[in-house]
Amino acid sequence: MKKKIALIFGVTGQDGYYLSKLLLNKNYEVHGVRRRSSIIKNYRIDELYLNNRNKFKLHYGDVTDYSSVGKIIKKAKPTEIYNLAAQSHVGISFDLAHYTNDVNAKGVLNILENILAINKKIKFYQASTSEIYGGVNNVQSEKTRFLPKSPYGIAKLYAYWISKNYRESYKMFCSNGILFNHESPLRGENFVTRKITKGVAEIAEGKRKIIFLGNIDTHRDWGHAEDYVFAMWKILQLKKPVDLVICTGKTYTVRDFIERCFKKIGFKIRWKGKNFNEFGYIVKNNKKTKVVKISKKYFRPNEVNFLKGDNSLAKKMIDFRPKKSLDDLISEMIDHDRKILHKE
Ligand code: NAP
Ligand code: GDD
Repeated sequence: MKKKIALIFGVTGQDGYYLSKLLLNKNYEVHGVRRRSSIIKNYRIDELYLNNRNKFKLHYGDVTDYSSVGKIIKKAKPTEIYNLAAQSHVGISFDLAHYTNDVNAKGVLNILENILAINKKIKFYQASTSEIYGGVNNVQSEKTRFLPKSPYGIAKLYAYWISKNYRESYKMFCSNGILFNHESPLRGENFVTRKITKGVAEIAEGKRKIIFLGNIDTHRDWGHAEDYVFAMWKILQLKKPVDLVICTGKTYTVRDFIERCFKKIGFKIRWKGKNFNEFGYIVKNNKKTKVVKISKKYFRPNEVNFLKGDNSLAKKMIDFRPKKSLDDLISEMIDHDRKILHKE
């Protein structure tokens, strides 16, 4: 059987870790692309790398650098490429609109053009996103129209279409996984779930008083990153390229998420006030204690209010069945964040 070699752009991110772990367990040779930075920040994959040195290789590169992409593809000779590289923060994309476009849109074209020039047989996975649905306030599926609401969503929509276009024009194996929000203990600390679980853990351990948040009435369909990287792999094992929605089919507000987190540490949070004056409090030692405050700073110029996916096609095509519930995810994240505090 032909040796399977995967190349992962975005290997140092949340999904990069879980996907590398999965592929190493499946006996792939895994190549990952990391960026140069003044501080080495490979902490998510450090242990995995050290324990698998013979089959896990790292390369310096950047998706905005066309020639670095080509050199790495020629060197690694992958059978599968997973493009997880992105400026992935929607809120920050309003501040870094040009940069977000360079990475999330043109970066994808750089990879596709190199695949076309080097070896058209390489299978390509593009990390697409529910953000491309943006303002569609009904359940979203592969048939739903697109209405992105941010520079991030718009750049990702270009990436979706250009991947589809190379599939149709050059018969390349390009698939878009349209993934809804997925989280884990390794989620970046400025995404809302991790910001909340870390904040709640710190409150539980007496190391913080208040968590400041933006719009807590938006709905998200949250899953676990481990379940979702398995879907990425399965998408590339299909005989034909596809565009597939990966989600849980359930939706909750950020407010629900906060309430469940406080419940996990034994408190009921209550809400008072309106709009920017709203706050959440708990009763601790018979005293009302403010634990959440709404801050204008974290509101976005444009918002995606409602995400809830339909995973029927993924169930049919790749037997997608997420194993972890939202409460499992919350428990895992808070336990992890408390453990870190104990180590400090
Ligand atoms: P993440 O933790 O932010 O990881 C992003 C990765 O991309 C990091 O390894 C980052 O490197 C790398 N990267 C950024 N700019 C790059 C560049 N110019 N060249 C090469 N690499 C670059 O994101 P994630 O949550 O794992 O998500 C993975 C992918 O799925 C992203 O494309 C994201 O947009 C997409 N997505 C995520 C979700 C979700 O809910 N997590 C849902 C749908 C789609 P550094 O470590 O050096 O910054
Ligand atoms: N980050 C953040 N910080 N979000 C907040 C905050 C806050 O303090 N307060 C409220 N929110 C709200 C946001 O306005 C948004 O409505 C929701 O919480 C979720 O925000 P994020 O966790 O930043 O995720 P996202 O939904 O914008 O984007 C994530 O999911 C996309 C898939 O739908 C990212 O992972 C994207 O890369 C991904 O494509």
